[in-house]
Amino acid sequence: MTSWLNASFSGLSRAAAGRQAVAVIVSVARRHGDRRRPYALFALLAAGALAVSARGEDTFFAQRVAPIFEQKCVACHGEKKQKGKLRLDSFAQLMRGGEGGGVVKAGAPKASELFIRVTMDPEDEDFMPADSKPPLTPDEVKVLELWIAAGASETTSLAAIKGAPALAARKAPVAALAPDWHPRAAQIAQFEKSTGLRLVPRSAVPTDGLVLRTASAPTRCDDAALAQLAPLADLVVEAELARTKITDVGLVSLATFSNLCALDLTRTAVTSGGLGTLVPLQKLESINLTSTEVDDTGVARLKQLPALRKTWVFGTRVSTVAEDPAAAK
Ligand code: HEC
Repeated sequence: MTSWLNASFSGLSRAAAGRQAVAVIVSVARRHGDRRRPYALFALLAAGALAVSARGEDTFFAQRVAPIFEQKCVACHGEKKQKGKLRLDSFAQLMRGGEGGGVVKAGAPKASELFIRVTMDPEDEDFMPADSKPPLTPDEVKVLELWIAAGASETTSLAAIKGAPALAARKAPVAALAPDWHPRAAQIAQFEKSTGLRLVPRSAVPTDGLVLRTASAPTRCDDAALAQLAPLADLVVEAELARTKITDVGLVSLATFSNLCALDLTRTAVTSGGLGTLVPLQKLESINLTSTEVDDTGVARLKQLPALRKTWVFGTRVSTVAEDPAAAK
């Protein structure tokens, strides 16, 4: 039995092999009656496992179609919202259709409500995605068209549908910029209360880090406030310290902000001497030193920062504008 399955693997798609195996086994079981049942049951399970794997990663639907829905449609047609009573977050839901019934007609893209909606005049109120959300690209439209034309199947293999444009690779999961801040929410609130400063999530992603905001009351932010931030230092990816009372003493605290990417020290009292303390900041990509006392010796110290790409030095005593210290090396 195993060898028969293996043999069919090469010639048929896994899904077809799975289905065929089920059909063959069922008929074998019928012909041989009870005697063969345990064996047939085992083989059925094996065939079922094959059918399941065919629904997985190597299908055109999973690789090409589902990511389009996920990116452009599921916000309104998914678990949280079901506009038009339609969900596009699984094959089964898609095939169930919406309030107007089925939205995909296998083999006929131009008769499929879903395809009509994404290809009509974008000015039309029925156009999808609704609300001027980013429309499908011509390549994405082509992928949907080919898939529906080929039978709108969940199991057709990636290789079986020819001529599909290569879409931009699915976004690899973005590396965390900082630890999840949620477990320390109470500590964050406490810091904000006692200092009057703000720690704002950079995005909805809890591992995108926090932005230290001081703009509403820059003079409340001094070296002592930064020192208080020590227990939360690893969460801060951007520190907006322009016009604050930060001095070189505060930079010693900042040097422990291990995930800091962007630092704005515009119009502060920091000096070239202090900048040397920032050398431990392996992730620092940009630093704004506009209108500070910093000079060439300070900028030279920053050359040790491996990730630094942008340095602003307008209104300083720096003689050469080193936009990109890495390139200046
Ligand atoms: C911003 C929200 C939003 C987004 C994003 C969105 N839709 Fe919709 N969709 C709606 C609303 C609201 C309706 C119901 C009103 C209507 O039928 O036009 C709807 C209805 C539909 C219907 C008709 C369902 C039925 O049976 O009546 C289809 C098909 C559809 N959308 C497809 C899509 C596709 C495909 C995408 C992604 C490319 C998408 N939508 C993205 C809001 C959205």
